[in-house]
Amino acid sequence: MAAWSVTDWQQYPCGQQVDYPDQSILQDTLQTLNRLPPLVDSTEIDQLRQHLVLAERGEAFILQGGDCAESFADCTQTVITNKLKILLQMSLILVHGLRKPIIRIGRIAGQYAKPRSKLMETIDDVSLPSYRGDIINQPAFTEAARTPNPKRMLEGYYYAAATLNYLRALIDGGFADLQHPENWDLTFVQHAIMAKDYAKLVGAIRDALAFVQTINGIKASSLHQIDFYTSHEALHLPYEQALTRQVNGRWYNLSTHLPWVGMRTADLHGAHIAYLAGLANPVGIKISSTVDIDWLGAIIDRLNPHNEVGKLILITRLGKENVNRCLPKLIEAIQQRRASVIWSCDPMHGNTQTTSQGYKTRHFDDILSELQQTFACHQAQGSHLAGVHFELTGDNVTECIGGARGLNEQDLQQAYKSLVDPRLNYEQSLEMAMRIAQLHRTTD
Ligand code: PEP
Ligand code: CO
Repeated sequence: MAAWSVTDWQQYPCGQQVDYPDQSILQDTLQTLNRLPPLVDSTEIDQLRQHLVLAERGEAFILQGGDCAESFADCTQTVITNKLKILLQMSLILVHGLRKPIIRIGRIAGQYAKPRSKLMETIDDVSLPSYRGDIINQPAFTEAARTPNPKRMLEGYYYAAATLNYLRALIDGGFADLQHPENWDLTFVQHAIMAKDYAKLVGAIRDALAFVQTINGIKASSLHQIDFYTSHEALHLPYEQALTRQVNGRWYNLSTHLPWVGMRTADLHGAHIAYLAGLANPVGIKISSTVDIDWLGAIIDRLNPHNEVGKLILITRLGKENVNRCLPKLIEAIQQRRASVIWSCDPMHGNTQTTSQGYKTRHFDDILSELQQTFACHQAQGSHLAGVHFELTGDNVTECIGGARGLNEQDLQQAYKSLVDPRLNYEQSLEMAMRIAQLHRTTD
């Protein structure tokens, strides 16, 4: 096979491609992006791959989560802090419940491009390009806002850099240190049903840490640092290419640690797979209930030709109605091929429904049901679920229904903020982590 090159993908059919009206601005912008420093370092990506080897062996568990579509306007101190906080709190619950290290991966600092099933939107006889994510155009239904603007890629780069910079500052500054109760105590869920359980758990972990510190003489400061990785869908390939760089003979996408290919662009003969095939990064693949098993096998061979461990994450998003029909066959096919993969579950995207008032939503119980069935299928076949993938936020939004507080369809209008898909709110996310810890106890 001829050597891979970073521009190869351009020869293949590219799903979800963007037509920019001005090619010269596009080329100038891409050249600028290509000169700018990377957002992450290849050593961090190699380190993530080492952690993923543990997940593949069942010795660690992946928590991946964040917005469906990050917005530039949400690049603020509060929103970033709350996202890190909810992911850390969930990971604490999971560490305690699963007795395994948790690999924390945000859908953050670059989750700006969205695939759409309809590339045009029509309102009152006016047709305009659909909103495709802040890195491409804007949500307002006007021609100016919806026309793709290449300069938004440069803005996206700077917003991602600002987000990452602040995340790194929080983490380096000891944000994850359990001795900082303000970061671990619950804010607006103080009266929630699970607040007591959570407080008990944090107390128990603090006591355990204090005990270890006393007997081993380990200083608290050596325990406060954590690893945190970023991920986004590698959808908008001109941007991804501009941030793909060669390091010691290997090509890395240095805009994120973990790029994934979405369900709509995971085409064996398409541009996205051609692009991802050359990267040293670990890669995620979303798998829907319409998957063809031979076709998935061919994609796996393409993305991981040497069958390396810790390289490929298969993220099933089948829908609660389809798990028992689809997943056992998928697991069996992967076992027969002896393919090295890490299984994760996105219980959000196969369980979306629209309410009578037109809100896109997801029910907490459907999400949990998909997870429950997925854990059980893996266990029944001698496989294991090594991770979960959520759309969530650290803020108090009302986008998904159900959960301990019993949000219903009427409540959605109170704080529905997502630009694309509905996310679990702060309280629902915490509750979900507690339910996973319970599930794991019953299936492990
Ligand atoms: C997403 O993760 O936001 C997404 C679009 O997922 P999928 O490709 O699985 O539909
Ligand atoms: Co989504």
